[in-house]
Amino acid sequence: MANKFNSGDNRTRRSVSIFIVAGLCCFFYLLGAWQRSGFGKGDSIAVEMTKSGENCNILPNLNFETHHRGEAGIIDDFDSKVKTYNPCHPRYTDYTPCQDQARAMTFPRENMIYRERHCPPQEEKLHCLVPAPNGYVTPFPWPKSRDYVPYANAPYKSLTVEKAIQNWIQYEGNVFRFPGGGTQFPQGADKYIDQLASVIPIENGTVRTALDTGCGVASWGAYLWKRNVVAMSFAPRDSHEAQVQFALERGVPAVIGVLGTIKMPYPSRAFDMAHCSRCLIPWGANGGIYMKEVDRVLRPGGYWVLSGPPINWKTNYKAWQRPREELQEEQRQIEETAKVLCWEKKSENGEIAIWQKKTDANSCRASQENSGATFCKSEDPDDVWYKKMEQCITPYNNANRDKTSSGDLKPFPERLYAVPP
Ligand SMILES: *[C@@H]1O[C@H](CO)[C@@H](O)[C@H](O)[C@H]1NC(C)=O
Repeated sequence: MANKFNSGDNRTRRSVSIFIVAGLCCFFYLLGAWQRSGFGKGDSIAVEMTKSGENCNILPNLNFETHHRGEAGIIDDFDSKVKTYNPCHPRYTDYTPCQDQARAMTFPRENMIYRERHCPPQEEKLHCLVPAPNGYVTPFPWPKSRDYVPYANAPYKSLTVEKAIQNWIQYEGNVFRFPGGGTQFPQGADKYIDQLASVIPIENGTVRTALDTGCGVASWGAYLWKRNVVAMSFAPRDSHEAQVQFALERGVPAVIGVLGTIKMPYPSRAFDMAHCSRCLIPWGANGGIYMKEVDRVLRPGGYWVLSGPPINWKTNYKAWQRPREELQEEQRQIEETAKVLCWEKKSENGEIAIWQKKTDANSCRASQENSGATFCKSEDPDDVWYKKMEQCITPYNNANRDKTSSGDLKPFPERLYAVPP
């Protein structure tokens, strides 16, 4: 049966356009209302959009009759201003503008500065559509995507060779298979998570958000999902070619990132658990600054898992081909920083060590002040975008320390409805 919506192609398109415009209009109206309610930050672009969105009077005039070109203002302007872009050269299928290898190499290697975000200047930006790789197919639906990725979608084989024994990834003709292994868990992420769960309450909603620093192909995050834990994973774009791309193809949230000199792009107290398994971050170095940054994003009561070197160095230093003294010193520095941060060591079993951030800030503050630790002065510990990491401890809550320092965040899913002030 015909109706007025499909009586003509043009008309349908126009109706759809009107819906889109009206939808955007209302979205920005709500955004404006939200901003004025005091939650939003004064982002100038958003404010601008809000202003133009306030004029929502096109809504009552909504009609589905055919408009002649040029007559109906905004819609026709919209039509005539559609720009077309040509596809980029096929070599740009994996273009990540702020992580370009050639540009990276012009920055210092020290403290991983060259692996941080370095975006192209205006005149070097591409104005073309990044093409899909040749032969790209729709990824498998979850959960099959956790274990299989079509080869054509990310045609990079080096990890299959480099990490062959550790079971990260296998090449099987036209698909990659991810057996769930990692450098630190050749038996699979699931068994490894079982070990963690014997110390950390992973499955009762206490731990909901997790951060995997130096994630590889993100198998840890992939397997936490079925335990109702959402993991954000990051790894640099380095010699482990395409690791984040594999994570995303598998359907696991991940971003290209590194702990270098800039703060992580997450607000303070965002994670219930942070994790590093052989992530190659020098935790003991630079006065423990990387642990201090993890501490910032860890909520009171949150856990930090470190597995792999230097943990259990006495047994493994030969296998790791590293000097005893160096590993011993690295662990000493880590333990010392943990103490300054007032993290309590919950367990060290084999190569897995687990700390917990204290829920009560006041119980630590005196000893921290005595030890000469500096607290961050920044008014806003969540103002992090492109900000330098600092050699200081983030106070539990600047404005309202007593109210939230007890870690009284509800377990998931109740916390969806009751977030402490
Ligand atoms: C979850 O388990 C931990 C450890 O067994 C316990 O302390 C905590 O109270 C539990 N939380 C809930 C919501 O059951």
